[in-house]
Amino acid sequence: MDVISRYVTVRKTGKNYSGLCPFHNDTKPSFVINPEKQFYKCYGCGKGGDVISFVMEQEGVTFTEAVRELAQRYGINFRSEAQSNEVSELRRVLDWAKGFFVRQYKSKPTGTRAVEYVKKRGFEDRIVEEAEIGYAPDSWQSLYDAARRDGLTQQMLVTAGLVVVREDGRVYDRFRNRLMFPIFDLQGRVVGFGGRALGEEEPKYLNTQETPLFHKGRVLYGLNLARPSIYKEGRAVVVEGYTDVLMARQYGIENFCATLGTALTKDNAWQLRKLVESVTVLFDSDAAGEKASERGLEVLLEVDLDVKVATLEAGLDPCDYLLKHGAEAMNERLQKTEGLVAFLLHSAAGRGLLNDASSKARVLDKVLTLVSVMPNPIKRDLVLREIAATAQVAESSVRSRFSSLEAGKRRPVEPAPAPPAGLPTVEEDVLSIALRNSGLLPRCRELCREFGLEMLGPVLDAAERVVRADGTIDISDLLGQLTDPALQALAIKCHDRDVLQPEAALDVLRSRFEQSRARAELRKVKQEAPSAQSEAELREKLERIKQITPRANPRRIFLG
Ligand code: GTP
Ligand code: MN
Repeated sequence: MDVISRYVTVRKTGKNYSGLCPFHNDTKPSFVINPEKQFYKCYGCGKGGDVISFVMEQEGVTFTEAVRELAQRYGINFRSEAQSNEVSELRRVLDWAKGFFVRQYKSKPTGTRAVEYVKKRGFEDRIVEEAEIGYAPDSWQSLYDAARRDGLTQQMLVTAGLVVVREDGRVYDRFRNRLMFPIFDLQGRVVGFGGRALGEEEPKYLNTQETPLFHKGRVLYGLNLARPSIYKEGRAVVVEGYTDVLMARQYGIENFCATLGTALTKDNAWQLRKLVESVTVLFDSDAAGEKASERGLEVLLEVDLDVKVATLEAGLDPCDYLLKHGAEAMNERLQKTEGLVAFLLHSAAGRGLLNDASSKARVLDKVLTLVSVMPNPIKRDLVLREIAATAQVAESSVRSRFSSLEAGKRRPVEPAPAPPAGLPTVEEDVLSIALRNSGLLPRCRELCREFGLEMLGPVLDAAERVVRADGTIDISDLLGQLTDPALQALAIKCHDRDVLQPEAALDVLRSRFEQSRARAELRKVKQEAPSAQSEAELREKLERIKQITPRANPRRIFLG
């Protein structure tokens, strides 16, 4: 009640409370909360559950994160002694460094140049504060010296990517005379930094190199701040630069995030897919068309996101555009989007690539290859029609070319989508529960068997072997039993996270699995229905669809 009323205005109606449903566009109050039984239900869209599932839906977070968030809100502490040492040390160092850079930024005269630069770029102080922007002084050892004074070891600083040891043993700061953007993970913890040169020095941006906590392809800059807005708007906007994300916030547009100067990865796509169904890509105006065809946007299609492309006028990136034209103009641009395929075709047309037959065929092949990664056959079908119309080619030719490209790829079966590595998946939730509560190992095993989470098998086996007399599982014991580095990484990640009320959590996870199984079956039956051999078979399939439909909840995907 207490939690939900922060999101929904409710009125008491008898024993219950009711209000407008936060999950769909509600016009009359169909959302009912029963405080006695501690659940909510919407009679409009059918959503219902307990406080944890409410937070999951509302904030677009996984089970573990929702529990953490609730615990934090109510001041419940997590056990922390079992956090893997290296990771928690690394976090401590990065956090310290963030503070150090901010102090330098604010100190005079050290930070003066950085402050002036930021002002010249048009950023307000509140954005600097919110993004916790700092400054790495123009000196070889100022961070190193300060860190040593504060008791951090050289080794920790090296692992965190903050200092570099030269061959002759001399140590120096990696970031010098740079404006420092801390890069946060989804939980708002610093995992690395991007440092921008204040002048024309190269490289323009220097990022933290890969560390145990920092993987360029796994983070989207600004997503931690953007998440509530993305979830609310039902749309994320992906831009290229840090400054684009921050300037948008300054102008009140909060659903922007940026890759770290790389192409989008499958991980990025999954992170977004967990929050929304639609993504708008907003590139710098220069060569947007070429970029769109080369920037790995297929990963977005692969996870069944609707991809729109918005463009800006020549020579401007989103940051400049906002400064020059303001939020209203930007919002207009964001409204005037094209689907990815239409955009690619139009921009190819604009470059004259559809004028002669062979280059037209090349462009179409490229586009059709993109279409072939789309998992939803209905959307694929619609796009193929669109392609035929836009490129003025007979639809039958488009389809026949599409089929032969498909055949050429000779995919054995629809590949299962890769598990999202950036966010805790449901599998990871199960593993966290098992590793932090050895008493629940048998139940976790059962869940894995029943729902085919085979990848967890070896870790659970190993966990069983190393349970100590007091019931705890030590991470180093566990790692000793695992040889596959991917499983080791998984074990560290999951061991590092606690789950409150693990037994209740398992119940919720079970129902999530059941839902997702129902969804999968529904998809399958729907796909098969049109090819039914007899009327009786079709009737049977339709019956089955009816049976399982109400249980399916298509809004979010918790499982691949
Ligand atoms: P400003 O030019 O300061 O407005 O920054 P920007 O974020 O607009 O930079 P730009 O459009 O040039 O580049 C977009 C993104 O690519 C940046 O935010 C960085 O993440 C990345 N990037 C740009 N230049 C470099 C570089 O020299 N090295 C690395 N590692 N990344 C870069
Ligand atoms: Mn830019």
